[in-house]
Amino acid sequence: MNVLVIGSGGREHALVWKLARSPQVKRVFCAPGNAGMRDAQCVDLTELPALAEFAQREKIDLTVVGPEAPLCDGIVDLFRVRGLRIFGPTQAAAQLEGSKSFAKEFMRKYGIPTATAATFTEPQAALDYVRKVGAPIVIKADGLAAGKGVIVADTLDVALDGVRQCFEGAFGDAGRRVVVEERLVGEEASILALTDGDTIVPLASSQDHKAVGDGDTGPNTGGMGAYSPAPVVTPALQRQIEETVLARFLQGCRAEKLDYRGIIYAGVMVTAQGPKVLEFNVRLGDPETQAVLVRLESDLAEAFAATAERRLASVKLAWSPEPAVCVVMASGGYPGKYDKGHPIEGLDAAEATGAIVFHAGTKKEGDLFVNAGGRVLGVTARGRDIRTAVANAYRAVDCIRWQGAYCRRDIAHRAFGR
Ligand code: AMP
Ligand code: GLY
Repeated sequence: MNVLVIGSGGREHALVWKLARSPQVKRVFCAPGNAGMRDAQCVDLTELPALAEFAQREKIDLTVVGPEAPLCDGIVDLFRVRGLRIFGPTQAAAQLEGSKSFAKEFMRKYGIPTATAATFTEPQAALDYVRKVGAPIVIKADGLAAGKGVIVADTLDVALDGVRQCFEGAFGDAGRRVVVEERLVGEEASILALTDGDTIVPLASSQDHKAVGDGDTGPNTGGMGAYSPAPVVTPALQRQIEETVLARFLQGCRAEKLDYRGIIYAGVMVTAQGPKVLEFNVRLGDPETQAVLVRLESDLAEAFAATAERRLASVKLAWSPEPAVCVVMASGGYPGKYDKGHPIEGLDAAEATGAIVFHAGTKKEGDLFVNAGGRVLGVTARGRDIRTAVANAYRAVDCIRWQGAYCRRDIAHRAFGR
């Protein structure tokens, strides 16, 4: 089959890399893709109608959507109307990520454990509620805000300020509705699962590091690294999550007639009261995908095609027992301002160690790769145990240099000693 991947980051590079290794796959395209994708032909398209025309013209048998924005914009609906096979939830189903209040209501209705929350469309009512409940408390812009619309407030002042910021447009339209939520305490894990609406198949567990600094300090980013499996997800906890989150999610999709044929990602907080869902995403995580897919031994193209055709019950996924670690190398200053255009050295030496270097924000200038985004590379390696995987990933990281390059040195630290 011919496959089209939509997106341009490290997650999409990992998808391209894995899909290209399927015996069924002839050609892989990525739109818009990035400079590091050796296994795909990149096409410079982002508009949905242009993507659908491309898929028709190039006889694409399967389109796989990486990021949430095109899903929330209805790419799946558009492709299906045109008879094109695509992997992902419809626009209606994508609201589970696109609107936090929609997701909270869904969880309430179907008994999925989550933080207690209230939704507001008027600042005064929200401020009154926050004063009544007090800190710590969490303020969330309802809509998509590129991972920035969540304020975990330790003090009442920060919380009140967060509410005002949302309503004053700090997150654009996303903040016109505000969810105020109980603060949960515990360790987080990313639970990804394939579903075709009838069957749900969990992927290997993983965990990412959102904070920019070592020891999980500093501002949140898109994710500075990830590892799989997440030891916090014990077999007993996995069963509990499958029963209380995944099975109920599927039941809710059926009852609400949501056409869901794609990935559901539950961000779970493991609290003293059991697992609770922090958020749903309707796509794979980045950088979790990089750590998860290098452990997948099965044919990903077949799994995605089966999901899109509602025959997921026939699919079994096999995983390498070896843990995997992805260390994100970022431009100095990220997630704030950073310089671009510095030549990157040592990529071949890094790959010669056996690691895989997934590109996220690179550009080619002549024969050289240069940094062109905040998150630049996802250096990913496996090992016989988690410590070895970490050592293997950092050995490759240490081959790579550019001016201002930054990475955390403690990815997967929470997995040690478990
Ligand atoms: P979200 O986009 O909803 O996942 O929020 C981003 C991050 O904010 C999560 O990964 C958590 O670290 C944190 N967060 C979100 N909701 C809560 C909550 N109710 N309690 C504590 N932390 C939270
Ligand atoms: N790594 C977090 C996310 O993809 O949302």
